[in-house]
Amino acid sequence: MEQLTKIPQHISIIMDGNGRWARLRGKNRVEGHVEGVQSIREVLRAASDLGVRYLSFYAFSEENWGRPEPEVSFLMELFAESMLKEKDELTANGVRLRILGNRARLSAKLNAMIDAVESATAGGSRITMILFISYSGRWDILQASAKLAARLSADPAYVPTAEDLGAQLVTAGIPDPDLLIRTSGEQRLSNYMLWQCAYTEFVFTDTLWPDFRKEALLDALQQYAARDRRYGKIKAE
Ligand code: IPE
Ligand code: IPE
Ligand code: MG
Repeated sequence: MEQLTKIPQHISIIMDGNGRWARLRGKNRVEGHVEGVQSIREVLRAASDLGVRYLSFYAFSEENWGRPEPEVSFLMELFAESMLKEKDELTANGVRLRILGNRARLSAKLNAMIDAVESATAGGSRITMILFISYSGRWDILQASAKLAARLSADPAYVPTAEDLGAQLVTAGIPDPDLLIRTSGEQRLSNYMLWQCAYTEFVFTDTLWPDFRKEALLDALQQYAARDRRYGKIKAE
């Protein structure tokens, strides 16, 4: 078995399968979301202990607004409630929490909660945890492009670079994910970090998100450690 010789600096997770986890137990879909919060807690603790610097989660996509209203409301309430509940523990454990996405679509109440938890944890230097809420990769690239376009109209001689675009994405200052994990057997990006995943390693697992705990994380890290990242070049012998 590969040793965990390579610990990614940034692990990102598309948490999927909450609804199926609940259905398998004869429960309401939303109970899967509630159990999924426990997985976040456990994975965060394990990643922090391993020295991972950035841990991000796709919690709610722009497309997820199209789900039935009761599920959307439940999730928004769960985000606000969890932030309030976890704020002190995150602070105590040196976790900096950031919420990234299209904030204009979130309620005033949730936005206020986000501001409060982001400022309370701003000094956290052990690990940065990022929750993507109301996020989509195309939206992110579009909003960044609009900023570059404004700069271009002010200065027609300006030639935008990839770095300039990256600096306008909501992830500015955060390294691109080294490892992306998606649970529940789906093997797609679902409009997540399209720009940032250019050279990310992907691990797909059939495990449903509420069942994804420390062991599952270690298994994904073992797969990552066995990967050879070449970035288009030829491996040095
Ligand atoms: C992931 O679980 C959580 C969100 C997308 C908010 P799902 O709710 O997509 O669960 P499945 O895919 O229906 O099982
Ligand atoms: C992706 O899961 C979004 C999140 C995990 C937040 P979905 O369940 O919404 O994705 P699709 O619809 O299966 O692609
Ligand atoms: Mg899903």
